[in-house]
Amino acid sequence: MKLGNLEIQRKACLAPMAGTADRAFRELCRGYGAAFCVSEMVSSKGISFNSKKSAELMMISPDERPCGVQIFGDDPKVMADAAKFAMQFEPEFIDINMGCPAPKISGNGCGSALMKNPPLCGEIVNAVVNAVEIPVTVKIRKGWDENSVNAVEVAKICEEAGASAITVHGRTREQFYQPPADWTIIRQVKQAVNIPVIGNGDVTNAEEASKMMEETGCDMIMIGRGALGNPWIFREINAYFDTDKLIFPPGPAEKISVMLKHIQKLVEYKGEYIGMREARKHVAWYIKGFKGAAEFRNMAGKLTTFDELIELSKLIYKAQTKE
Ligand SMILES: Cc1cc2nc3c(=O)[nH]c(=O)nc-3n(C[C@H](O)[C@H](O)[C@H](O)COP(=O)(O)O)c2cc1C
Repeated sequence: MKLGNLEIQRKACLAPMAGTADRAFRELCRGYGAAFCVSEMVSSKGISFNSKKSAELMMISPDERPCGVQIFGDDPKVMADAAKFAMQFEPEFIDINMGCPAPKISGNGCGSALMKNPPLCGEIVNAVVNAVEIPVTVKIRKGWDENSVNAVEVAKICEEAGASAITVHGRTREQFYQPPADWTIIRQVKQAVNIPVIGNGDVTNAEEASKMMEETGCDMIMIGRGALGNPWIFREINAYFDTDKLIFPPGPAEKISVMLKHIQKLVEYKGEYIGMREARKHVAWYIKGFKGAAEFRNMAGKLTTFDELIELSKLIYKAQTKE
């Protein structure tokens, strides 16, 4: 698939996930073969105030490239300025968030609320496309609610305004993340536009990835929750597409060792205090399905230092190897 002049080698990319798909996790997923990454969403207003938090969110390591910076907002001028500002972090593309359902975002007319105003979607894409020299992509949902399903209309408007690709998450804003994603809307968008379409929603393994591509005709798939505690999903998907064969997921020893590497990076980037608090949920995801997972999850919820995690990892490993 091509994003502007950028040749994308693989079929599955990592979804933007605020508070979760940070630099440490994105690097890991790229290492396992994710086609590209997208930053956590960054507020265009925050960027305009030159906030330190926004700058941190836009930092990209060499190991995670190609990587896009995702911005959200509802003012075309502010969004265009934010995209220009983001260029100092040298992203390979800018992604515009038209899907976030969180009340604090959509309640302010941003994220998924933009889909209620298709002409504004076009104005924003147009402004951002004119502001930067790199490709601009857009991430949309099926629509605001079942009575206003308009992904096809919004996708066409974004294409017209100069977007280089569209990601479609097959749920309405009202559905947040719960009911099964509707892949038919992804197919409808794919049939309606000429730019690449990235399908998103509920892909958690290689067979589902292949099924989404077959059923929707999409050019790529985007994986969100299916990668949490499971970054090797990209290796599995790539192997399946390359050889038609399913490969086994790693055993407990490899999973624990990857988890430690991941959390070590997290601590390196964010410091031990924040890093270890954020690590708690990742540990819980990595040990899903392990013997004694419930008890270990409780213990993970109290982690405060990396040394404690090393000790906990030994206990977890021992429990998996016990008869
Ligand atoms: C914790 C979390 C944070 C998310 N943050 C973002 C975000 O910052 N920007 C965005 O466009 N989507 C965000 N999403 C939505 C995902 O990118 C994706 O569209 C959604 O999870 C559906 O894909 P999945 O079924 O593969 O998880 C987030 C999802 C989760 C679970």
